Amino acid sequence: MLAADSTPAAVETDLLVAPWFEDDRDGVAGLDHATGGEVGRAIASKEFEGKPFDLFLAPLVDGRWRARRVALIGGGKAADFDAALARKVAAAAGAAVRLRRVARAAFLLRCGAGAADDAATGAFAHAVAEGLTLSEFDIGSYKTDAPHTGEATAWTIVIGGGAAAAGGAAAAVARGRVLGECSNLARSLANEPGNALTPREFARRAAEIAGGGGASVEILDERQSGELGMGLLLGVARGSSEPPRMIVFRHEPPGAPAAPILGLVGKGITFDTGGISIKSADGMERMKDDMSGGAAVACAMRAISMLNAPMRVVGVVPATENMPGGRAIKPGDILKSAQGTTVEVINTDAEGRLILGDGLWYARRLGATHLVDVATLTGAVVVALGKTTSGLYGTPERFVAHVRRAAEAAGDRAWPLPLFEDYREQLQSEIADISNTGGRPAGSITAAMFLKEFTGGLPWVHMDIAGTAWAEEAKPYQPKGPTGVAVRTLARLAFDPLDV
Ligand code: BES
Ligand code: MN
Ligand code: ZN
Repeated sequence: MLAADSTPAAVETDLLVAPWFEDDRDGVAGLDHATGGEVGRAIASKEFEGKPFDLFLAPLVDGRWRARRVALIGGGKAADFDAALARKVAAAAGAAVRLRRVARAAFLLRCGAGAADDAATGAFAHAVAEGLTLSEFDIGSYKTDAPHTGEATAWTIVIGGGAAAAGGAAAAVARGRVLGECSNLARSLANEPGNALTPREFARRAAEIAGGGGASVEILDERQSGELGMGLLLGVARGSSEPPRMIVFRHEPPGAPAAPILGLVGKGITFDTGGISIKSADGMERMKDDMSGGAAVACAMRAISMLNAPMRVVGVVPATENMPGGRAIKPGDILKSAQGTTVEVINTDAEGRLILGDGLWYARRLGATHLVDVATLTGAVVVALGKTTSGLYGTPERFVAHVRRAAEAAGDRAWPLPLFEDYREQLQSEIADISNTGGRPAGSITAAMFLKEFTGGLPWVHMDIAGTAWAEEAKPYQPKGPTGVAVRTLARLAFDPLDV
């Protein structure tokens, strides 16, 4: 992916893609004329209105334009066109162009109605590079007659405004490219079936991904986890013949201050049957993606080290299957966490919070001063916020707001839910320190309240991605399947000062 400082007419490419706004009069100077009036005709007849993701193709008949054809892609109203929409529009354009098997394409950068200063140009260039890269995601296939998908389109992002602006934007394009690629790696992991991606294989691939980017990786086996007293992780793993792993990442930039240390923790259930509290058969195959939070941490660690984030970061991913084997934990069983807290397991299907309890503790032991965990934790968050918005929970509120801003900038929509002390009552156990379920009311909040017990009072945010990790419906900008949610949010956190 290249960034070029050029005028639209001078770009030599097979297909020039230009965002076009509903309220554009002459969105790209000279373009209507260069198409022999086709653009004007399509707009007048309302064949093309410029609504988000609308598409219109026309040949360029003016020999002074070096591209062969132009594709207008709708950007909506110019005033509403922000970097988040630019990312989606670029992803939709990328998907459409890929379908048409175009070898070389160029995307004309436009910044909506705001001032196109260097900062805005950088932010839009970054978002467009991410969107185009996300459109390259190849879900992979186990079909023996899968058609060859062919070469990916080679993209150039066209930035006007002179060499200086283009230089800054080129760096932004390079960063966006890395973040898009890391999101796609997380999507590939989430899509792998449970028999292929066992905890051991997950650890191996996570190490390859993060280690390949420059992070250091350590994999604790069941014996080492046992020595550390991780009774919650080992408890969940008991029902499976596959041994658990605790995957640990470190990013230690030379000369970085000793603090803060950002601690990222991701749920790594490679398949969730529910255990003895077994799930119903309907849709259970979806539970292969119950390691999406862990994949987000591994792939964010790759981005963080590839992009030389200035901050120290540790990543922790407890990984296991949740299976109903003969040695599995049973409702009523009591587990002891590495922290020492005893937990009564009321429902073995509330396994994510268990393994995260030991994961959060371990991130603290590694020196984390700020904790962010990501997990496909509850069906309840899907009821509360649906399929587009992740739940955010944590303390103090300023840190929650900080993560929310990072998520917004990254294009991962998230919204806060409260952690009032009153909810803690629902987790009362008669026999142990805490129970692992709080009943149906406020199910995603009580799950977060459980996690809070393992944060040692540090600033902490929990992101419940049960609704957002997997798209059930195809959109112009996103196919059905794994979304790579949270990778870019987590990576971004390592670049913004943690002044909370
Ligand atoms: N992995 C599931 C949560 C989930 C549900 C993710 C739907 C994606 C889609 C989690 O381990 C789980 O089973 N949670 C239970 C908790 C309950 C037993 C308290 C749930 O949400 O039903
Ligand atoms: Mn479960
Ligand atoms: Zn689960």
